Amino acid sequence: MTHRWHKKRPHFPFVTLLFFIIILLTILYNETSIKRINQQQDDLKKKYVFGQDHFLNFATFWKQNAFLKKSPVTLDKFSTCDLTVKYSGRKGQYDAHMPKSYDKREEQGECDYFSGKWVFDNTSYPLYDEFDCPYMSDQLACHKHGRQDLGYQNFRWKPHGCNLKRWNATEMWEKLQGKRLMFVGDSLNRGQWISMVCLLQSVIPATKQSMTPNAQLTIFRAEDYNASVEFLWAPLLVESNSDDPVDHRLDERIIRPDSILRHAARWEHADILVFNSYLWWRQGSVKLQWSRENDGICEEISGLGGMELAMEAWAEWVASKMNPLKQKAFFVTMSPTHFLREEWQPESSGNCYNEKTPIENETYWGSGSDIATMEMVKKVLGRLSSKVNVINITQLSEYRKDGHPTIYRKFWETLPPEKLSKPESYSDCIHWCLPGVPDVWNELLFQFL
Ligand SMILES: *[C@@H]1O[C@H](CO)[C@@H](O)[C@H](O)[C@H]1NC(C)=O
Ligand SMILES: *[C@@H]1O[C@H](CO)[C@@H](O)[C@H](O)[C@H]1NC(C)=O
Ligand SMILES: *[C@@H]1O[C@H](CO)[C@@H](O)[C@H](O)[C@H]1NC(C)=O
Ligand SMILES: *[C@@H]1O[C@H](CO)[C@@H](O)[C@H](O)[C@H]1NC(C)=O
Ligand SMILES: *[C@@H]1O[C@H](CO)[C@@H](O)[C@H](O)[C@H]1NC(C)=O
Repeated sequence: MTHRWHKKRPHFPFVTLLFFIIILLTILYNETSIKRINQQQDDLKKKYVFGQDHFLNFATFWKQNAFLKKSPVTLDKFSTCDLTVKYSGRKGQYDAHMPKSYDKREEQGECDYFSGKWVFDNTSYPLYDEFDCPYMSDQLACHKHGRQDLGYQNFRWKPHGCNLKRWNATEMWEKLQGKRLMFVGDSLNRGQWISMVCLLQSVIPATKQSMTPNAQLTIFRAEDYNASVEFLWAPLLVESNSDDPVDHRLDERIIRPDSILRHAARWEHADILVFNSYLWWRQGSVKLQWSRENDGICEEISGLGGMELAMEAWAEWVASKMNPLKQKAFFVTMSPTHFLREEWQPESSGNCYNEKTPIENETYWGSGSDIATMEMVKKVLGRLSSKVNVINITQLSEYRKDGHPTIYRKFWETLPPEKLSKPESYSDCIHWCLPGVPDVWNELLFQFL
């Protein structure tokens, strides 16, 4: 009996019905989605043309994620803009935690450590030997790459009215005991990090130190101090298509002005943070892709405008997430370039190539250090008051036209003969030889820790 009953009502038709209902729902869902897509695409004057195959377009749209509340596609070196429009004036939602007013920064005691002069001192300087530092970069090892005049290694920074504390690597390690010191920024900041590692590594045995392979985050560890000195490549502070530490994208700069958290996730647990950002904003306009917009649509803004948006996003992170009782943050101001000899020696040509001594004119300021940028940085940092210490390297580094690698470094690209015969044409007047100027930036950091 029961056997027959079963035969009359098999499960099969019910399963089939369910299947068709699902298919129907899927089609309906896709139809409405596609209407929404078309609407949106029209609104945005985007160049997608919807063909016959709705499913395919739905898949494309799925990737574009405009209505699915998933996180946006991460920018990388392959990211491009499908459409670029003028900057709309839009700002991030940054102001929640930022004080509105400008706080007058407390002076560091009586003395302004950033105003002074360079004194030749070949008994105390250099603070380490270029060839004794296993972590030296070929971009900065000027003696190794043929520089013969080594005076650039022998200058001490003498602030007016006081002296910098003497560098002491053991004392620095004691300050770093159980801590993570992290440098975050571009290649200038990386130079400062290498300088710090070189300044510190000699006092600990080789077996008690280690360095991870070069990556976006590179870590130097000192076992006995349970401490690390790290570098995070983030040249534009916020997420960008230039975040690959080796293969930088240079031609089209795209940033997500509202995406600081992706980088912050890597720095948020550091105890001491040293940030910089400047030169990557000096190559013309940048493009903005807001996180919740369709990928591919960009707004174009000036480099300075882009930097201000990035600085505001960064400042909001500092104001809301950083714990000043546990963490310390520093911002290193713009590192000057020396591209135009006529600026320090009127009626001459050339650049920093062959410069062997610092500039003595104390009011000297070159065109490479953009005053509008400095004003903006000062305004943003002013609102963070005591949460961020400024390491104002700009003026003191302005004097050091002699401190750049020029032709005495490794160049990754092959240089054609017509360039090789004119050293000025490929001189690096941006970075700094080590030992050299960045060691003093670190002495200032040591002073303020
Ligand atoms: C330091 O410089 C002075 C003057 O140029 C020179 O006479 C002296 O030999 C140098 N000392 C060292 C240790 O290089
Ligand atoms: C460096 O610092 C250590 C630890 O604070 C101290 O013992 C040593 O005397 C200092 N060295 C110099 C040359 O001041
Ligand atoms: C080492 O330092 C980290 C913080 O950087 C801390 O979490 C950990 O407890 C320390 N370990 C020891 C053994 O002190
Ligand atoms: C010193 O530098 C300033 C600013 O760059 C310039 O205006 C001035 O003429 C220079 N003075 C001398 C004596 O070269
Ligand atoms: C850094 O110092 C220069 C003068 O040397 C000054 O004009 C500038 O405002 C300072 N920047 C900051 C952020 O304090």
